[in-house]
Amino acid sequence: MTRPPDAASGTEWWRTAVIYQVYPRSFADGDGDGVGDLAGLLRRLPYIASLGVDGIWLTPFQPSPQVDQGYDVSDYCGVDPLFGTLAQFDDLLATAHTLGLRVILDVVPNHCSSEHPFFRTAVAAAPGSPERAMFHIEDGPGGALEGDPPNNWRSVFGGSAWSRIAPDSETDRQWYLHLFSPGQPDWNWRNPAVGEYFEGVLRFWFDRGVDGLRIDVAHALFKAEGLPDADRPEDVVDGLRSNPQVSDQEEVHAVYRRWRRLADSYSPARVLVGEVNLAPHRAARYTRPDEMHQAFAFTFATVGWDPAAWARIGTELDTARREHGAPPTWALENHDLVRTVTRFDDGGGRGVVRARAGLLALLGLPGGAYIYQGQEVDLPEVDVPAEARADPMWTRSGVSRDGARVPLPWTIAPAGSFGFSPTDDAVPWLPIPPGWGSMSVEARERDAASTLHLVRAALDLRRSLHEEGVLSPHDGGMWRAEDNGLLVCERSELFLVAVAMGDAPVRLPEGRIILASSALTTEGLLPPDAAAWVCRA
Ligand code: GLC
Repeated sequence: MTRPPDAASGTEWWRTAVIYQVYPRSFADGDGDGVGDLAGLLRRLPYIASLGVDGIWLTPFQPSPQVDQGYDVSDYCGVDPLFGTLAQFDDLLATAHTLGLRVILDVVPNHCSSEHPFFRTAVAAAPGSPERAMFHIEDGPGGALEGDPPNNWRSVFGGSAWSRIAPDSETDRQWYLHLFSPGQPDWNWRNPAVGEYFEGVLRFWFDRGVDGLRIDVAHALFKAEGLPDADRPEDVVDGLRSNPQVSDQEEVHAVYRRWRRLADSYSPARVLVGEVNLAPHRAARYTRPDEMHQAFAFTFATVGWDPAAWARIGTELDTARREHGAPPTWALENHDLVRTVTRFDDGGGRGVVRARAGLLALLGLPGGAYIYQGQEVDLPEVDVPAEARADPMWTRSGVSRDGARVPLPWTIAPAGSFGFSPTDDAVPWLPIPPGWGSMSVEARERDAASTLHLVRAALDLRRSLHEEGVLSPHDGGMWRAEDNGLLVCERSELFLVAVAMGDAPVRLPEGRIILASSALTTEGLLPPDAAAWVCRA
């Protein structure tokens, strides 16, 4: 196999792409140290290809002190020895392409690691120096040695967003900004040298042949001029959304216009996907035709099993699509969110069947979609023992994202690593719960009715429906929530997705049911907590 054909139109493969998100430290461990790595991933690539996805998105594996599991980057153009070598990455990329998979990497431009050479140089340099101007390094009010930081901003991970740059100094009274942990100083994007530096980073990976980049916290690079106090400082955690001072500044769009031109200058053109955690009408401005290609539909990922909420958000996203031309990019899970099996369970034990229905629905919607590793085997959120938690958010604010980051179980036995590591005595970096052999890839492969097989069937069908012209990259989404709890998204006159979100079985709109997440009732109704694809062609 070579690179996958463009299922959709021309070179715009991303418009309909389904991407599998790999969290490298939890995917597959090749060297037996209990942490997933590139060697493990390389060995398991055929599995990912077997799902029928168009590509993978890899969260950061670049050199990093791992304060925020790699989102604190100390060298943007390398591979952390924990995960392997650059030569292994090149091998991985080549193999992925041979298997027909595109590869998207994470780039983290809002902040780096406090171990990044530029930040270390800034710490050593004098206040007011060009080295310090690469970051937001400021005096406190009145320039006092003690006392308050420069403004009232809070870190997303808890506590002040400012730390003293030289806590032990008797003379250096400056503070540096970190929207996340103190190990992640924010770059000063008002300094053109920062933009130049990142264009070099983009070129480095594009030149190596990566197909696209996912841009971390893409809306926050620029802060309001002068760094004024936030209106609602306690709300910074809420995706940096509610304080206009902290993110979503107009200036950031010029960055994505430049990056788009750079991405377009390659053949084939590279793709940009943004983590833009804003309301749909604001997020859509990042995917105007000359900016990024995709931005995750985040509001969708945070709602529960609620047809009215899905219909409202779906409609908002479709309005944005009509306004700006960019199709929605669906994701129900990622490494920061509570797993859907747990999120959709309102105590009645329906989490698995709902998560499966949600995933099938997602794969039928217009636009692109992301599947997070483990979603295809129904992994739930894990209550990781407090002493094992590694998320910096846990230590700073008591909220832990570790429960969605537990390593993937590959084999039914032996308990402990369940095939995640190559040796039985390896200890996974987060403990895998004892019963997880039954949710391993091996167990799901053996069960013809598993979500794993459903995902394969859905992606296979999706591809042929595109080839036959039943599905089009230009489909819209007419959403409605009916009184009986039925959620409907009509892509076109030819195809619709329906989800039974109420308590009783429901009759589907007219058409041929070509795939469903649960068997229909004997009366031909869709049972509660099931999704179906209905074709009228
Ligand atoms: C993004 C990442 C998250 C990380 C944060 C800071 O939201 O998905 O895991 O902690 O950015 O880089």
